[in-house]
Amino acid sequence: MAAMLHVILYQPEIPPNTGNVIRLCANTGATLHLVHPLGFDLDERRMRRAGLDYREYTRIVEHDSLEDCVADISPATLYALSTRGTTRHDAPHYEPGSAFLFGPETRGLPQTVLDSLPPGQVLRIPMQPDNRSLNLSNAVAVVVYEAWRQQGFTGAAP
Ligand SMILES: C[S@@+](CC[C@H](N)C(=O)[O-])C[C@H]1O[C@@H](n2cnc3c(N)ncnc32)[C@H](O)[C@@H]1O
Repeated sequence: MAAMLHVILYQPEIPPNTGNVIRLCANTGATLHLVHPLGFDLDERRMRRAGLDYREYTRIVEHDSLEDCVADISPATLYALSTRGTTRHDAPHYEPGSAFLFGPETRGLPQTVLDSLPPGQVLRIPMQPDNRSLNLSNAVAVVVYEAWRQQGFTGAAP
Protein backbone atom coordinates (compact mmCIF):
# COMPACT_ATOMS: atom_id res chain seq x y z
CA MET A 1 0.00 0.00 0.00
CA ALA A 2 1.62 3.27 -1.13
CA ALA A 3 0.66 5.86 1.54
CA MET A 4 3.43 7.99 3.00
CA LEU A 5 2.60 7.01 6.55
CA HIS A 6 0.33 4.44 8.18
CA VAL A 7 -1.29 4.67 11.60
CA ILE A 8 -2.47 1.42 13.16
CA LEU A 9 -4.81 1.49 16.15
CA TYR A 10 -4.84 -1.93 17.76
CA GLN A 11 -8.26 -2.70 19.23
CA PRO A 12 -9.17 0.93 20.11
CA GLU A 13 -11.80 1.25 22.82
CA ILE A 14 -12.94 4.87 23.08
CA PRO A 15 -14.78 6.42 20.09
CA PRO A 16 -13.72 10.09 20.51
CA ASN A 17 -10.06 9.08 20.44
CA THR A 18 -10.53 7.25 17.16
CA GLY A 19 -12.52 10.26 15.88
CA ASN A 20 -9.59 12.54 16.66
CA VAL A 21 -7.20 10.16 14.91
CA ILE A 22 -9.47 9.97 11.84
CA ARG A 23 -9.26 13.75 11.53
CA LEU A 24 -5.52 13.76 12.16
CA CYS A 25 -4.96 11.21 9.40
CA ALA A 26 -7.14 13.19 7.01
CA ASN A 27 -5.06 16.29 7.73
CA THR A 28 -1.67 14.64 7.38
CA GLY A 29 -2.43 12.24 4.53
CA ALA A 30 -1.74 9.16 6.66
CA THR A 31 -3.80 6.03 6.13
CA LEU A 32 -5.59 4.81 9.25
CA HIS A 33 -5.82 1.08 9.97
CA LEU A 34 -8.14 -0.23 12.68
CA VAL A 35 -7.49 -3.72 14.04
CA HIS A 36 -10.60 -5.52 15.35
CA PRO A 37 -12.25 -6.00 17.75
CA LEU A 38 -13.18 -2.33 18.17
CA GLY A 39 -14.83 -1.04 21.33
CA PHE A 40 -17.56 0.65 19.23
CA ASP A 41 -19.44 0.44 15.93
CA LEU A 42 -17.81 2.26 13.05
CA ASP A 43 -20.74 3.13 10.85
CA GLU A 44 -21.37 6.12 8.61
CA ARG A 45 -24.26 7.47 10.68
CA ARG A 46 -22.16 7.58 13.84
CA MET A 47 -19.25 9.19 12.05
CA ARG A 48 -21.46 11.91 10.64
CA ARG A 49 -22.87 12.48 14.13
CA ALA A 50 -19.29 12.81 15.44
CA GLY A 51 -18.78 15.67 12.99
CA LEU A 52 -16.61 13.75 10.54
CA ASP A 53 -17.25 14.15 6.84
CA TYR A 54 -16.93 11.66 4.03
CA ARG A 55 -13.47 12.78 2.91
CA GLU A 56 -12.15 12.16 6.40
CA TYR A 57 -13.21 8.56 6.69
CA THR A 58 -12.47 7.23 3.22
CA ARG A 59 -8.89 6.38 4.13
CA ILE A 60 -9.78 3.97 6.93
CA VAL A 61 -8.96 0.29 6.47
CA GLU A 62 -10.31 -2.32 8.89
CA HIS A 63 -8.46 -5.58 9.64
CA ASP A 64 -9.42 -8.75 11.48
CA SER A 65 -5.99 -9.19 13.05
CA LEU A 66 -2.66 -7.42 13.47
CA GLU A 67 -0.99 -10.08 11.31
CA ASP A 68 -3.41 -9.37 8.43
CA CYS A 69 -2.90 -5.65 8.87
CA VAL A 70 0.91 -5.78 8.71
CA ALA A 71 0.80 -8.18 5.76
CA ASP A 72 -1.56 -5.84 3.92
CA ILE A 73 0.51 -2.71 4.54
CA SER A 74 3.93 -4.33 4.12
CA PRO A 75 5.46 -1.24 5.81
CA ALA A 76 8.93 0.12 5.13
CA THR A 77 9.41 -0.19 8.90
CA LEU A 78 6.92 -1.04 11.62
CA TYR A 79 7.25 0.99 14.82
CA ALA A 80 5.31 0.33 18.01
CA LEU A 81 4.52 3.11 20.46
CA SER A 82 4.65 2.26 24.13
CA THR A 83 5.45 3.84 27.46
CA ARG A 84 7.64 0.71 27.85
CA GLY A 85 9.73 1.67 24.80
CA THR A 86 13.40 2.56 25.18
CA THR A 87 13.94 4.58 21.98
CA ARG A 88 12.82 8.20 21.88
CA HIS A 89 10.21 8.90 19.22
CA ASP A 90 12.35 11.56 17.51
CA ALA A 91 15.42 9.31 17.22
CA PRO A 92 14.63 7.28 14.05
CA HIS A 93 14.91 8.56 10.50
CA TYR A 94 11.42 7.80 9.22
CA GLU A 95 11.13 6.55 5.65
CA PRO A 96 8.00 6.99 3.52
CA GLY A 97 5.78 3.95 4.03
CA SER A 98 6.56 3.65 7.75
CA ALA A 99 3.77 2.34 10.00
CA PHE A 100 3.08 3.30 13.62
CA LEU A 101 1.25 0.90 15.91
CA PHE A 102 -0.62 2.17 18.99
CA GLY A 103 -2.23 0.21 21.82
CA PRO A 104 -5.72 0.28 23.32
CA GLU A 105 -6.48 2.99 25.87
CA THR A 106 -6.80 0.81 28.98
CA ARG A 107 -4.31 -1.96 28.18
CA GLY A 108 -1.57 -0.74 25.90
CA LEU A 109 0.02 -3.12 23.39
CA PRO A 110 0.52 -6.78 24.35
CA GLN A 111 4.05 -7.49 25.59
CA THR A 112 4.35 -10.24 22.93
CA VAL A 113 3.91 -7.62 20.20
CA LEU A 114 6.54 -5.34 21.76
CA ASP A 115 8.95 -8.27 22.18
CA SER A 116 8.60 -9.17 18.50
CA LEU A 117 10.25 -5.90 17.41
CA PRO A 118 13.87 -4.72 17.82
CA PRO A 119 14.27 -2.14 20.64
CA GLY A 120 14.98 0.60 18.07
CA GLN A 121 11.43 0.16 16.74
CA VAL A 122 9.66 0.42 20.12
CA LEU A 123 9.29 4.13 20.70
CA ARG A 124 8.57 6.18 23.78
CA ILE A 125 7.41 9.81 23.83
CA PRO A 126 9.08 11.67 26.71
CA MET A 127 6.91 12.56 29.70
CA GLN A 128 7.46 14.14 33.09
CA PRO A 129 8.27 11.65 35.90
CA ASP A 130 5.41 9.79 37.60
CA ASN A 131 2.96 10.19 34.71
CA ARG A 132 1.29 7.08 33.31
CA SER A 133 0.75 7.86 29.63
CA LEU A 134 -0.46 10.36 27.07
CA ASN A 135 -3.96 10.23 25.66
CA LEU A 136 -3.97 7.87 22.66
CA SER A 137 -4.89 10.51 20.08
CA ASN A 138 -2.30 12.95 21.43
CA ALA A 139 0.39 10.27 21.18
CA VAL A 140 -0.60 9.62 17.55
CA ALA A 141 -0.43 13.34 16.76
CA VAL A 142 3.04 13.76 18.26
CA VAL A 143 4.52 10.90 16.27
CA VAL A 144 2.77 11.47 12.94
CA TYR A 145 3.74 15.14 12.90
CA GLU A 146 7.37 14.27 13.70
CA ALA A 147 7.45 11.74 10.85
CA TRP A 148 5.71 14.13 8.44
CA ARG A 149 8.05 16.98 9.48
CA GLN A 150 11.01 14.75 8.60
CA GLN A 151 9.47 14.29 5.14
CA GLY A 152 9.21 18.06 4.64
CA PHE A 153 5.41 18.02 5.14
CA THR A 154 5.06 16.51 1.67
CA GLY A 155 1.67 17.15 0.14
CA ALA A 156 0.68 19.90 2.60
CA ALA A 157 -1.39 22.85 1.34
CA PRO A 158 0.83 25.82 0.43
C1 LIG B 1 -3.58 5.58 26.99
S1 LIG B 1 -2.19 4.76 26.33
C2 LIG B 1 -2.24 3.15 27.09
C3 LIG B 1 -1.84 3.13 28.51
C4 LIG B 1 -1.65 1.72 29.04
N1 LIG B 1 -2.17 1.65 30.36
C5 LIG B 1 -0.18 1.35 29.02
O1 LIG B 1 0.42 1.28 30.08
O2 LIG B 1 0.39 1.15 27.94
C6 LIG B 1 -2.68 4.30 24.70
C7 LIG B 1 -1.55 4.18 23.73
O3 LIG B 1 -0.98 5.46 23.49
C8 LIG B 1 0.40 5.33 23.21
N2 LIG B 1 1.15 6.13 24.19
C9 LIG B 1 0.64 6.90 25.18
N3 LIG B 1 1.63 7.54 25.83
C10 LIG B 1 2.78 7.17 25.24
C11 LIG B 1 4.17 7.50 25.44
N4 LIG B 1 4.56 8.35 26.38
N5 LIG B 1 5.09 6.94 24.63
C12 LIG B 1 4.71 6.09 23.64
N6 LIG B 1 3.43 5.73 23.41
C13 LIG B 1 2.48 6.27 24.19
C14 LIG B 1 0.73 3.84 23.27
O4 LIG B 1 0.63 3.27 21.99
C15 LIG B 1 -0.37 3.32 24.16
O5 LIG B 1 -0.59 1.94 23.97
